[in-house]
Amino acid sequence: MSADGYTVAVAGATGAVGREMLRMLDEQNFPIRRLVPLASARSAGLKMDFRGTEVEVAELTKKSFAGVDLALFSAGGARAKEFAPAAVDSGCVVVDNSSAWRMDDDCPLVVPEVNAAALEGHKGIIANPNCSTIQMVLPLQVLHELGGLKRVIVSTYQSASGAGQSGIEELLDGARKSLAGEEMPAEVFPHPLAFDSIPHIGSFEPSGYTNEEEKMLFETRKILGLPELASSATCVRVPVVRGHLESVTADLERPVSAADARAAMERFPGLVVMDDPANAVYPLARDCVNRRETFVGRLREDNTLPATLHFWVVSDNLWKGAAWNAVQIAEELHNRGWMRV
Ligand SMILES: NC(=O)c1ccc[n+]([C@@H]2O[C@H](COP(=O)([O-])OP(=O)(O)OC[C@H]3O[C@@H](n4cnc5c(N)ncnc54)[C@H](OP(=O)(O)O)[C@@H]3O)[C@@H](O)[C@H]2O)c1
Repeated sequence: MSADGYTVAVAGATGAVGREMLRMLDEQNFPIRRLVPLASARSAGLKMDFRGTEVEVAELTKKSFAGVDLALFSAGGARAKEFAPAAVDSGCVVVDNSSAWRMDDDCPLVVPEVNAAALEGHKGIIANPNCSTIQMVLPLQVLHELGGLKRVIVSTYQSASGAGQSGIEELLDGARKSLAGEEMPAEVFPHPLAFDSIPHIGSFEPSGYTNEEEKMLFETRKILGLPELASSATCVRVPVVRGHLESVTADLERPVSAADARAAMERFPGLVVMDDPANAVYPLARDCVNRRETFVGRLREDNTLPATLHFWVVSDNLWKGAAWNAVQIAEELHNRGWMRV
């Protein structure tokens, strides 16, 4: 870093996540000397606003990272595989949002409130977990500290923006077309999404799970440091523009009351408890949009099993699930003096 801050590149700056990264970097007052927005050749020359000035988008190439200190990647797995090593070779630290590096033993997979210490000794590439995993591991970490986590069952209700800008557009276009009695598009999603829900995110594996569901299992184990954790996910796309919602069941080693779990979650950084069901208070997607926190409600003990708790967890997939978590990682690296390869 020079005296007036870092040179920061955002690869995928024009996408649903990349645009939010620019906003987060701006709002956080992160020490930035120069911002370098990168995208595909299609977007080269486009002007974007950053801290009141116009910055021009350049095409992402292996030469994009000369003089860059930090690169936030949100340009998909193929681009992360191709360009992140070149960025590291140029002396740049990479925080990648795709799944390309998450399970690599040399790459920390980090949710700062849970395992920031895993950043120590990083080798240049740090992975941001899957959006559905990030919001789930915050309350799970609390329950693990209280009662020892044995097994997790989760059903997700994931918004259209989880599939990027084109996912948002397909949902909105489909809703308009459906109301007009026209045929709805299904190019981004396997079926028309408007007014329906689709239990199919990613591609199906021989196990019968989708790769999105398997990511939740493997990433949760890695972040929580519980390689044997039993877990099963069902990932569902719902016609919500922004915000992922999840119903989670946690089996613990020892009984923990819902009251104790609630109190501990209220104290945990980044978590907000919204849990007064008698007054219809529980988190909705609209409560979490443009919020950095993760929201928990419907926290309750199981009717029949003594050491099982259930809860509902909601967060903004474009913020805590992606851009904000990445910027938090950058802040941790800066504050701990680890912004170097
Ligand atoms: N959406 C979420 O909730 C979420 C959450 C966590 C992680 N992620 C991950 O973040 C990444 C981006 O997701 P998104 O939702 O922002 O997708 P998106 O809206 O489709 O944006 C994709 C970005 O990648 C760029 N890009 C595409 N092909 C490229 C190429 N050949 N060379 C350089 N840049 C290229 C696009 O540039 P152009 O505009 O020029 O095409 C755009 O800036 C993905 O890896 C995704 O898995 C997304």
